[in-house]
Order: sequence, then C-alpha cells, then structure tokens
Amino acid sequence: MMNFRSEGKALALAAAIAGGVLLATLGAATVMRGRVQSQQHLAARTAVGGGSQPMMVAAEKGRQLFLQSCAHCHGDDARGDDGPDLHNLRISDAHVALLIKNGIKGDMPSFAKKHDDADIAALTSYLRTLH
Ligand code: HEC
Repeated sequence: MMNFRSEGKALALAAAIAGGVLLATLGAATVMRGRVQSQQHLAARTAVGGGSQPMMVAAEKGRQLFLQSCAHCHGDDARGDDGPDLHNLRISDAHVALLIKNGIKGDMPSFAKKHDDADIAALTSYLRTLH
C-alpha cells in the first residue's frame, strides 16, 4: 500500500509528465501549422526590450493561462475554433477583462473564480500581442 508521501510524489510525477506531453503536443502542433510568428514576435520583443519588460513577462504568463483556459475554444494560436479569432480585438482592455470575468451567456464561461485580476491582466496583455 502507498503511504501519503509516495502517493504525493506519484501525483506530482504524473502531473509533470502530463504537462510535458501537453506542451510537446502543443509545440508540435504550432510548428506543424507554421504559425510560430506570434511567439517569435513575442520573443524578439522581449529580447530587444521593445515594450516594457514587465508587460512582456505578463504577456508570456498570459499565453500560458490562455493555453490552459481558452485555447480549447479559441484555438492554440487564438485564430479561432469554436470561439472567434482574438487577433486585432476591437474592444477595450476593460471590456476584455469584463468578458473574461463575466463570460458571455450561452457562449463562453465566466472565469471570475478561476482567474484573479492579475491573471486577467496577463491574459489581456497576451491578447494585445496578437496582430
Ligand atoms: C467554451 C468556449 C470558450 C472558452 C473556454 C472561452 N471562450 Fe472566449 N468566446 C467564446 C465564444 C463562442 C465567443 C463569441 C461570443 C459571441 O460573439 O457572442 C467568445 C468571445 C470572446 C471574446 C470577445 C471577442 C470579440 O471580438 O469581441 C474575448 C475577448 C474572449 N472570448 C476571450 C476569451 C479568453 C481570454 C478566454 C480564456 C480565459 C476565453 N475567451 C475562453 C468561447 C469561449
């Protein structure tokens, strides 16, 4: 029988493996579709310090959150799937934040419980890098 400690370790290991597989799959899918531009764009801007550094860090965090919470509807690259393409959004940051918090009745869930204001700000900065 497993004690709590080994169970915890096994769980952590399983989570790490699942995460690795997910990232590898997402990475492969992105490369296969030849749509690495937005990531390269992000990396380039981070490297040359275009845009403020904290903003770029937030955008990278936002991308991770996006892959967790939004990509299954909006697509890994936010080009749209069940949900619309999120490039060149015409709505304000405040409006984006409100939609993420409240959701859209019948279309998109509310993320108020899952993501705090800092997460939502990160998600919004990520979406702003998409052109
Ligand atoms: C269950 C699927 C689903 C999930 C999950 C989801 N969305 Fe959506 N989202 C939609 C749909 C569908 C619409 C379009 C609704 C409409 O036009 O009435 C939408 C619309 C939006 C819009 C407005 C787009 C515009 O052009 O005005 C934004 C911004 C947005 N989603 C961001 C997000 C973010 C960020 C997340 C993750 C935190 C997320 N969505 C998760 C389905 C989803």
